[in-house]
Amino acid sequence: MSYLPLFSLETWILLITVICLFVMYGYWTHGIFDKLGIPGPKPYIYFGTIVYYMDDHKSAMKYGKLWGAYEFRRPVLFVMDPDMLKTILVKECLTYFTNRRDLRLTGELYDAVSMAEDDQWRRIRHTLSPWFASGHMKAMFRIMKNHSQKLINQMRSKADKSGVIIVKDFFGPYSMDVMGNCAFGLDLNCINNPSSPFITHASQLFNFSLPLIFIQGAFPHHVWFFPFLIPLLQLLGFSLFSKTSMAFFKTFMEKFRGEYDKTSNQKSGDMLRHMINSQTKSENPNKGLSDHEILSQSTMFLFAGYETSATTLVFLAYNLARNPDIMKRLQQEIDTTFPNKSPVHYEGLLQMEYLDSVISESLRLYPPAARLERVTKETIRINGTTIPKDMMIVVPVYALHRDPELWPEPEQFKPERFNNENKHSIRPYTYLPFGIGPRNCVGMRFALLMVKLGLVEVLQNYSFSVCEETEDPLTMDPKGLLAPKRPIKLRLETRSSTSGNEDI
Ligand code: HEM
Repeated sequence: MSYLPLFSLETWILLITVICLFVMYGYWTHGIFDKLGIPGPKPYIYFGTIVYYMDDHKSAMKYGKLWGAYEFRRPVLFVMDPDMLKTILVKECLTYFTNRRDLRLTGELYDAVSMAEDDQWRRIRHTLSPWFASGHMKAMFRIMKNHSQKLINQMRSKADKSGVIIVKDFFGPYSMDVMGNCAFGLDLNCINNPSSPFITHASQLFNFSLPLIFIQGAFPHHVWFFPFLIPLLQLLGFSLFSKTSMAFFKTFMEKFRGEYDKTSNQKSGDMLRHMINSQTKSENPNKGLSDHEILSQSTMFLFAGYETSATTLVFLAYNLARNPDIMKRLQQEIDTTFPNKSPVHYEGLLQMEYLDSVISESLRLYPPAARLERVTKETIRINGTTIPKDMMIVVPVYALHRDPELWPEPEQFKPERFNNENKHSIRPYTYLPFGIGPRNCVGMRFALLMVKLGLVEVLQNYSFSVCEETEDPLTMDPKGLLAPKRPIKLRLETRSSTSGNEDI
């Protein structure tokens, strides 16, 4: 105790006050779910429940359809109850639950449609939506076909050697080439150059920096302590998105935009032309997009479309390789719809029932967006539960899709769950690979078309099977979108028949 006299009484009081404040601040937000009577794991000072935060499936088994967790100091309400989901995602979406979390350190992407809020979001979404209408998708199908053909050709040399492939090395470039061509009218030709900077930067873009995530979670905006921290980081140019990748897309878009204005046909059907044509800067500020908004949508689209669609195709190949009977039945449907490997056409593709069931079931097991998010604008009571203003709501889609009460044998790949006979008995608001309601995935129709075309043309020509290097079960990467930690490897073989049915 000889060191005690080193401090004066005032210093001691100050020190104890600082320690008390530090401890209080670390727990300040952690009592909210106890007060609301909502169960959930016990939080640690400052860190909240982050140690068990990622395993939604386990939490759902333990706490049921509603539980509270803490992303560091930020309370997060997890909702799996279908009636509550209907209110949050659909009925009250435009009133109480319009926005996702304010990521704040978004750098240049602050006005991308997925980040924008309220009126700005409404205007951007309203401008983009017509481009995704079914009439326009038929024109995009013609563009997609160029790239599916290149995909088949690219696979040929590997399949001839009965080779083992990293599946994403083929579906990733296909997806990026389709996105680039439909969004900007540009052939990125990633299929012949899988290490293209477009692929590398799109993959890196959402590799969020962990320290920045910590700061965002530790100092949520409605808490008055340290209010300067986030604006300071914004001022210093910190961003959750990779700065190098953002700079790459920005430089590319700015350069490309200059050339595009000179060379592009006014009537070209790509997304960039649609956005430029929407610009009505002069008279009506409530319509059209600004130059910066166009830049942000373009970057966001490349990423949103590339990663999700490529991942969907990779998981489809994996599920089919592990279930050869299902793959053969699908190949049978393909051969009946397009006999003798005849060209795949739009109408035929959309009529294929088994194809639809297989894709739906694969998206049930592996939804690329494993969680949806909304933030409550005002305090609201839903089905007896009070949800306070500013509360972040998470819909744990991955856990919902594997709930044994909703999906018997949830780990099994069973496309028949989604056939015409059975799909009507799926409880509404329990199957959400594209979200639902006014803020659902705007690119859903486009994505399904690209995935269906890619899969059908590949299975017309090749079969997948598991090999020694195929991981089973998969280890998932806990960061970002749902993806395997290590690349999925499968064996690719050329189908022997020309008429299609002999190898079945
Ligand atoms: C299989 C592929 C895809 C899947 C599984 C998927 C899934 C999703 C999900 C779950 C959401 C959030 C919905 C919500 O919060 O309710 C979303 C949002 C979004 N998706 Fe997709 N997506 C895919 C492909 C695409 C494509 C190809 C595009 C663009 C061409 C796209 C553009 C967007 C955009 C812009 C948003 C934000 C919408 C808004 O905030 O209004 N997605 N997507």
